[in-house]
Amino acid sequence: MEPLNQKKILVTGGTGYIGSHTTVELIEAGFDPVIVDNLYNSDAQVVDNIQKITGVRPLLEVFDLCDSVKLGKFILKHKDIQAVIHFAAYKAVGESVRNPIAYYRNNLLSLINLLDVMKRYEIPNLVFSSSCTVYGQPEKLPVTEDTPLQPATSPYGNTKQIGESIIRDTTCSDKNLKAISLRYFNPIGAHPSALIGELPRGIPENLVPYLTQTGYGIREELKVFGNDYNTPDGSCIRDYLHVVDLAKAHVVSIKRLFEKKNKSDFEVFNLGTGHGVSVLEAIRSFERVSGIKLKYKITGRRPGDIEKIWADPGYANTELGWKTLSSLDQAMKTAWDWEKMIRSNNL
Ligand code: NAD
Ligand code: WQD
Repeated sequence: MEPLNQKKILVTGGTGYIGSHTTVELIEAGFDPVIVDNLYNSDAQVVDNIQKITGVRPLLEVFDLCDSVKLGKFILKHKDIQAVIHFAAYKAVGESVRNPIAYYRNNLLSLINLLDVMKRYEIPNLVFSSSCTVYGQPEKLPVTEDTPLQPATSPYGNTKQIGESIIRDTTCSDKNLKAISLRYFNPIGAHPSALIGELPRGIPENLVPYLTQTGYGIREELKVFGNDYNTPDGSCIRDYLHVVDLAKAHVVSIKRLFEKKNKSDFEVFNLGTGHGVSVLEAIRSFERVSGIKLKYKITGRRPGDIEKIWADPGYANTELGWKTLSSLDQAMKTAWDWEKMIRSNNL
């Protein structure tokens, strides 16, 4: 078989949070990642830090994937791309409710343009960033890949459901195209080097960046959205996985496609730890790893929140040979180290 280091992988959204960690893992596994990102939600400096971690500087091309002309020109320069990992998307749930058109346009048009060039230039392998949001509040837990999908509760979630359908239909119509959709649960933390991590714009919507910013004193206190749910401590439950574990799942998925181990043309995997963690447990984890007593107060429920959800990662464990390795505390510690690093560098 061709050595891995000759395999060029297009990583869309590769300077973003999950994309940058995956680019590091791809380089460390011997692949040649090429990033396309419009830097809407990331910084070109991420490439410097990927280089510091790996010793390799991945190529970054800055343009919008909604621009089919620029994408076509890019692919002509890189006809040797053999697979695509498609991270690029808008991802803020609340913003998608306020501005659905921007979300449908960006997340769907970029995907359609990408599939179009993949078909035209016979790039046969795609890994897609999907989300546990497609399951809504499932009736039975944990969630397997066979758990029925619920109607999307936000335009963002809808773009993931529609995106999966578009990919499934395209693989049906094109015998050369194979795709894997990875449904992430809640990625948290940062690279242990603290050189790359999540850079939330403005006030974070997600729990862990809000928690670490509160610990650092940037936010006055964390609001715990409800303690009257039907859960052991009354707060909501999620499945938080370390972003480095998540990144490694993409490398395994790419290898599966190259080695033609896929069982169908469109496969789906749940990526989580298999353990549910409540908001109050996450706060205690933060307090353990930081030594800080967190200021928080219980407030009302956040509209649209799911009460509890966690993955059954059994299918990914057996079929992909992938499982999470980091504990909640280990992941939380990297989130805290990253928060301190960005603040001390005024990022
Ligand atoms: P991110 O915002 O950090 O990264 C996405 C990157 O894509 C950004 O760098 C952004 O600038 C770029 N981008 C967006 N639209 C683009 C376009 N049209 N053209 C070129 N570049 C574009 O987000 P992330 O957390 O790394 O998420 C990556 C993917 O994973 C997304 O598809 C997201 O929906 C999905 N996902 C994320 C989570 C999570 O909690 N972070 C959970 C489930 C799924
Ligand atoms: C986690 C828990 C909140 C903030 C989001 C997206 C979903 C998917 C995963 C991308 C919840 C509670 C939060 C705060 C809190 N992403 N919380 N105070 O809700 O699982 O989903 O990420 O695909 O689409 O919606 O993650 O981090 O927002 O919240 O109490 O200030 O923390 O109520 O229980 P969530 P989250």
